[in-house]
Amino acid sequence: MKTLVVVIHPDIKSSAVNKRWVAALHEHPEKYVVHQLYAVYPDERLDVQAEQQLVEQYDKIVFQFPYYWFNCPPLFKKWLDEVLTYGWAYGSKSGYKMSGKKIALAISAGVDEHEYRQSERYKYTLEELTRPFELSFEYVKADYRPLFAYYGMEFNTSEEWIERSVPLYLEFLDAL
Ligand SMILES: Cc1cc2nc3c(=O)[nH]c(=O)nc-3n(C[C@H](O)[C@H](O)[C@H](O)COP(=O)(O)O)c2cc1C
Repeated sequence: MKTLVVVIHPDIKSSAVNKRWVAALHEHPEKYVVHQLYAVYPDERLDVQAEQQLVEQYDKIVFQFPYYWFNCPPLFKKWLDEVLTYGWAYGSKSGYKMSGKKIALAISAGVDEHEYRQSERYKYTLEELTRPFELSFEYVKADYRPLFAYYGMEFNTSEEWIERSVPLYLEFLDAL
């Protein structure tokens, strides 16, 4: 079964790495379905039923986004708030429609990996900083998997650095 990749980038045209990842995903339509939230909903008004029906079709779902202010872009938070409804995502016997689905985050970050892991400045790793996502998906009984992160996009946006991420990301998706 294909993997659904929900891309949440507020300005994909100006993106370096997320845009490259989307292009790589499009090269394998037999493996990945790309759903770009900001493109589908330029007015940011989500069609909740359509989103739920889409999610129901896939067993592996990845949410791909750039890391902004130690969090996700706002449309992903809105998606969680509106799509994970009582009776569908949780809270009734027929609910828990995401139960058992493999869910992962794929994040691009400006800061270097060693800064998140070792420096006094950041204190927390991305794994720790994304605990609310982990808890939310566990709340709806999904199978939350360790995230994919690609770091250092603030100071190194060279083509070489970006290209290096592509096989790593695709390997991650295929191993999910
Ligand atoms: C508004 C804004 C906030 C950001 N906040 C963070 C942050 O908190 N931590 C971090 O590592 N990078 C941060 N960055 C850097 C972005 O994560 C980085 O530019 C992005 O992942 C690159 O992806 P793209 O080329 O697809 O846009 C921020 C960038 C912007 C524009």
